[in-house]
Amino acid sequence: MKAIAVRPPQKNSVHVAELPMPSLDTVPNGHGVLAKVLKVGVDATDREINEGLYGNPPEGSDFLVIGHEAFAQVVEVGPHVKRVQPGDLVACTVRRPGCSIYDQIGRNDITSEEVYFERGINLRHGYLTEYFVDDQRYFVKIPKGLRHLGVLAEPASVVTKGIEQAYLAQQRLQVWEPQRAFVLGAGQIGLLAAMMFRLRGLDVHVFAWSKAEGNLKAEIAGQYGARYVSTQEQSPADIAKEVGRPDLIFEATGRSDQAFGAMEYLGLNGALIWSSVTGGDHHVDVPGDKINLEWVLGNKLLVGTVNGNWRHFEIGISDLALGEQMFPGVTEQILTHPVDGLENYQQMMDLLETGKCLKVFVNVAEESTV
Ligand code: BGC
Ligand code: ZN
Repeated sequence: MKAIAVRPPQKNSVHVAELPMPSLDTVPNGHGVLAKVLKVGVDATDREINEGLYGNPPEGSDFLVIGHEAFAQVVEVGPHVKRVQPGDLVACTVRRPGCSIYDQIGRNDITSEEVYFERGINLRHGYLTEYFVDDQRYFVKIPKGLRHLGVLAEPASVVTKGIEQAYLAQQRLQVWEPQRAFVLGAGQIGLLAAMMFRLRGLDVHVFAWSKAEGNLKAEIAGQYGARYVSTQEQSPADIAKEVGRPDLIFEATGRSDQAFGAMEYLGLNGALIWSSVTGGDHHVDVPGDKINLEWVLGNKLLVGTVNGNWRHFEIGISDLALGEQMFPGVTEQILTHPVDGLENYQQMMDLLETGKCLKVFVNVAEESTV
C-alpha cells in the first residue's frame, strides 16, 4: 500500500513509499486493531520534518512515514479487543511508550526519557498511508455525529492537555477562579483554545498579526464569542492595560519571542501555557530582571503542552462535541484546505509551505457503511 514518507535529515525528501499491508498479529494478546485511514491533518510539524529540522525513521527503515493526526475507521479487531469494533470511527494517539515509570502507567505523553517515540514524527511510522494497525489502548472513539470534526481530535487533545495541566497545577492556589484569557496566535490551536476557554466561561481575547477585516480567523474567533485583536493595531500589553491582565495565556504562535513576551503581562497568580514547538535557533531579548521579579512576587506559573494521551483525546473530543452544540457549524470552518488523495502529497506540502493555510488535511478514503 501507498504511504507518504520523508528521509530525515534530508531536505524536501517527501515522496511516495510502499508499505506492506499491516497485520493484526503484530500486536500481542489479541489486542490489535486494523484501521482504514479516512483523513489525516497536517501541520507545521510535518513541514519542519520535511525541512529536515527533526524526525527520525523507525529502526531498520531508511524513511519515515509522516502524518500524526489520524481520523480512521476500524476494519478488523483482534479476539480480545473491547474498546472498539469494526465500523467505529476513531482517532489514534501519537506517542508510544518507552520504559520510564510514566510510560508504564499510560502517561507516555510525559515520559522522562530523552528518546521518545511518536507516530509520524520520531522513530515510528505515521498515518499518511492507507491502513494501520495498533494496540486498542491507543484508539479513541469518535461519535458518528462528530465525523466532520474527527480530523481535529489530535490538535484538540494538545489544547485540552494544556488547559487541564494549567488547571491542575493551579490547585496550588486553593482558590482560583480565572476570568480572563488571552490566546496568542489564531491558527488551529489558538482557535481551539479560544473555543475551549469560552466553554469554560472565560472572557477571551485572541491575538494575531492579520487585520480583522475579511479575515476568516477573526470571524471564527468572533463566532466563538471571543474578541479578536490584530497585533498591528494593539498589543496584548495594550489590551491588558485596557481590560486587566489575563489569568490565563495560551501561547500558540510558533515564535519564541511571543512565548517569552507573554511573561511580561500575565496577571498575578496567573498561568501561561506554551504550545509552540520552535524548531529553529532564534535568540530573544527579554527584560529578565523585571520578569524574574514579577514572576516570583506574583506567584506565576508556566506550563508546556506537548502530545496528548488517550484521556486528553477523550476530553478534546468532548469539548469538540460541546463546542458544536454551543457554536453550531463554527469549528468546521477551521478545515480550510482539503487535499484529495495521497497521490497529491506535493500539493499538501506546497500548501503547508505557504504558511498561510489555517488547516491542511488529506482526504485519504471514504468511510464505509458497515
Ligand atoms: C503534535 C504533538 C507532538 C508534537 C511534538 C505536534 O505537532 O501535534 O502530538 O507531540 O508535535 O512532536
Ligand atoms: Zn501536530
